[in-house]
Amino acid sequence: MDYLKNVYEQTKYMLQQKIKELFANDYSGHDYWHSLRVLNNAERIAKTEKCDEYIVMIAALLHDTDDIKIFETTDYENARRIMLDCHLTEDTIDGVIDIIKEISFKGTETIAATSIEGKIVQDADRLDAMGAIGIARAFAYGGNHNRAIYIPDCQPNINMNETEYRNNEGTTINHFYEKLLLMKDMMNTDCAKSIAQKRDRYMREFLKEFYDEWNEH
Ligand code: ADP
Ligand code: NI
Repeated sequence: MDYLKNVYEQTKYMLQQKIKELFANDYSGHDYWHSLRVLNNAERIAKTEKCDEYIVMIAALLHDTDDIKIFETTDYENARRIMLDCHLTEDTIDGVIDIIKEISFKGTETIAATSIEGKIVQDADRLDAMGAIGIARAFAYGGNHNRAIYIPDCQPNINMNETEYRNNEGTTINHFYEKLLLMKDMMNTDCAKSIAQKRDRYMREFLKEFYDEWNEH
């Protein structure tokens, strides 16, 4: 194994251990396994783009460590502390923080990441909100936030700004129309676009089956 590959693998291992500790008690869908799946998606996409794979790996693992829905940190304290503990350089830390700042879904205020590394991590995170895993996460989040599964006369709102999106009290089925089915057309990279096609199709089939069963009488 060459030197750089060795540094990559060691850093990845150390970061994984830190993240496992940080997310130990989260059941809202932002757990350690989500971070690991985002990493796997990101590594897969990174192979198809010209990018800094080291930065992609770190940003993927740390992308949710200061999420306002879970932590009350300021200025990306958790991410900074973890990277310092892993002896990463100041340049690396600043580069990673710039990426993490950009990537979250904020309703109509969502922005596309500017760097290729940011675009990759954003796609990797969005892919994990789609498909079978996306469906599982949506209902886990809904249960965790006391949301109903479905209420037939409760209509989705697809044009929410960030505050409305965060405070929205709709059903989990509505969330498919408010976010999950929009993801396919928001992907930055060709690799993610093609994975997203399949996951989108699966979610649409799920919804069809859901309504069929609901109306079976
Ligand atoms: P991000 O990771 O981009 O900040 P969110 O925090 O909005 O995205 O979402 C995290 C996970 O929780 C995703 O799988 C998402 O689909 C799910 N989720 C977010 N809001 C809702 C909601 N209102 N109902 C159901 N699932 C939700
Ligand atoms: Ni995430």
